Amino acid sequence: MRQFDVIGHRGATGLEPENTLRSFDKALKLGVNGVEFDVQNIHGELLVFHDESLERTTNGEGKLLNHSVEHLRKLDAGKGEQIPTLAEVVELIGDQAFINIELKGLDTASLVMDLVKLLDKKRFKKEQFIISSYLFSELYLVHELDPEIQIGVIADDQPLIALDFADEVDAYSFHPSYSILDEQLVDDAHNAGMKVYVHTVNDLEKIDQARLMKVDGVFTDYPDRVLAYLQRQ
Ligand code: G3P
Ligand code: MG
Repeated sequence: MRQFDVIGHRGATGLEPENTLRSFDKALKLGVNGVEFDVQNIHGELLVFHDESLERTTNGEGKLLNHSVEHLRKLDAGKGEQIPTLAEVVELIGDQAFINIELKGLDTASLVMDLVKLLDKKRFKKEQFIISSYLFSELYLVHELDPEIQIGVIADDQPLIALDFADEVDAYSFHPSYSILDEQLVDDAHNAGMKVYVHTVNDLEKIDQARLMKVDGVFTDYPDRVLAYLQRQ
């Protein structure tokens, strides 16, 4: 049967506090194929965090950029978890799953690529990483810094523009939101040599639809649900 990858969105967000080591650990224990998370450059440090502001997921207030990294690292990101650094997350995942680093905000590309370059080659394979973003400018830079690194282009609208761009940077994968998914788009991405990973799908009927369209995998907040469903097939 066709390979179908289950990618833990921000870890296992439906089960544990998003983008925390606890959430990544949960996703790995469930047996995901890949783990996705968001990375921001905060005063030169790469922190794993989705929003620009702290309120939704921590006990802090205001924009991350208005605080020192030291302060941010003291906050509670849920169940006593700390906001992790990119290095901590990559270290935890190791070779257990593929690692999808989503670049959020500008000035992330070169720092992320520096870190990937420095990783132990025996433990980490370059093909294990997908560097993705909505931000074309960051992905151009990633491609320039290392034409071999696997790039993922995310799109929530204007899929054809995103697909053209993906072709330009020789993207490995295309990451449309479920709302813009259709068979033609999947075929076009496949014909351009890309995998199609759809975000963010938690509902099993949508998983069925995505599989009918021959997508290669989904980002999900509930890897437990999706993995159990796939086992029943
Ligand atoms: O990478 C897929 C998905 O994570 C993109 O949207 O807002 O959840 O980072 P968002
Ligand atoms: Mg993301």
